[in-house]
Amino acid sequence: MALLLPGGIATPGLVWKQRRRASICKASAAPSPDPAWRTNVVSERAARSGVEIPRSIEECEAAVVSGNPPEAPPVPAKPKAPQGTPLVTPLRLSSRPRRNRKSAALRAAFQETTLTPANFILPLFIHEGEQDSPIGAMPGCFRLGWKHGLIDEVYKARDVGVNSVVLFPKIPDALKSATGDEAYNPNGLVPRAIRILKDKYPDLVIYTDVALDPYSSDGHDGIVREDGVIMNDETVHQLCKQAVAQAEAGADVVSPSDMMDGRVGAIRTALDEAGYHDVSIMAYTAKYASAFYGPFREALDSNPRFGDKKTYQMNPGNYREALLEVHADESEGADILMVKPAMPYLDVIRLLRDTSALPISAYQVSGEYSMIKAAASQGMLDEKKAVLESLLCIKRAGADVILTYAALQAARWLCGEK
Ligand code: PBG
Repeated sequence: MALLLPGGIATPGLVWKQRRRASICKASAAPSPDPAWRTNVVSERAARSGVEIPRSIEECEAAVVSGNPPEAPPVPAKPKAPQGTPLVTPLRLSSRPRRNRKSAALRAAFQETTLTPANFILPLFIHEGEQDSPIGAMPGCFRLGWKHGLIDEVYKARDVGVNSVVLFPKIPDALKSATGDEAYNPNGLVPRAIRILKDKYPDLVIYTDVALDPYSSDGHDGIVREDGVIMNDETVHQLCKQAVAQAEAGADVVSPSDMMDGRVGAIRTALDEAGYHDVSIMAYTAKYASAFYGPFREALDSNPRFGDKKTYQMNPGNYREALLEVHADESEGADILMVKPAMPYLDVIRLLRDTSALPISAYQVSGEYSMIKAAASQGMLDEKKAVLESLLCIKRAGADVILTYAALQAARWLCGEK
C-alpha cells in the first residue's frame, strides 16, 4: 500500500502511479488501458508483495549485460501507403527541409518570427458623441465616444496586453476650415481624449496623428492654395502647433502622417523648444497614395473634396524613393519609421529594416482590414487564420510594431481566447 505522507506527497508505488496516470488522462476522452508490455516491467517481488520496489541500478545493468533487457514498446509498424502508390527508389537528397517541419513541437521550436500583443498599436476612432457609432466600411470598428466608449475599449485592449493606441478624431464639419486651425485647439477632441486616457491609465502609450485632414474643409492633409497646390511650409507651421498641443495634453508619440517635406525636423524643434524633449516622433516615412485608405476616410468623413493625395503621398510604383524619405526622417530626428500600407508593401518594410537601425512600424490600413473582414463574412477565408498570418508576415518582413484595427481581436486570439 502506498502511504500518503503529510503534505500530500505519496510514497512511490502502484497507487501513486495509478493516480498520476488518471490525472494525466483526465483531459482525454477515454483513459487508455496499460499497454501489454508495461505490465511485465513490474518485478517479481512487486508481484509477490503487491508493491513495486525499484531494482538497484546494478541489478538493472546486470540484466541487460546478461542479455535480458527489459521490454520496451515494439518498433512501430511502417505506416501503409494507399494502394496504387508508385514504388520508387528513395531520392538521394543531402537535405530534406521537411524533417524540421515534421511535428508541431519542431515547428514551434524553429519558428523565426512570433507575434505578441506588445507588438500591436490599436488605432481608435473617436467622436464627440456619447454613444459609439458603427463604421459601415469597417465591420467591428466604431467611432467611440471619447468619454465612455474610448475608455472601455482601451480597458479591453490592455486586458490582453495591448497597451499602445493611436487616436483619430471625427471632427464636426462646423469646426473644419481651410487652414485646419482646430488641429491645435488645446481643448479640442484629441487633447481632451488624451487627458482623460492618461488620467485613467497613466502608463498607456498614446500615439497621435499629425496631419490636417480631419480638420480641413478640403479633406487634404495640408493647406490648399487657390490653384489646388498643397502648401508645404505653411502646412508644416500648422503641424508643429498641432504636435505641441498633443504633447502638452500628454501624448507619448506624435506621428506625422501628412508627408510634407521637412516636417519631422520642424516638429522636433518645436517640441524641444516647448520642453517636450521626451515626446517621440513616429514618422510616416514611406506612406503611399493608396486605394486601401478608402474605409478610413469614410470613418472620419475625410475624403478629399477634390483631387487626390498624389502630390504628397508616394507613388505605389516606387521603391528607391523610400530611401530618400528614410534619410530625411532619420537625419531630422525621427524615433520610429513607418511603412504604410503594410501587406502590399512588404518589400518596402524589408528595405527600411535593412537600411535603418531605428524601430520600424507598419500600418495594416483600413482597406487591408476590411478585405479580410469582407472575405471572412462571405465564408471565403478563415478570419482568425488570415488575420494572424497577415500580421506575422508583416513582422517577418521587418516590422517591430504593427498598427492594426485587428489588434484587440488578434491579442485575444494570441492569449488563447476564442
Ligand atoms: C491621414 C491618414 C490617413 C490614414 C491615416 N492617417 C488617410 C489618408 O492619408 O488619406 C489612413 C489609415 C487607414 O486607411 O487605415 N493623414
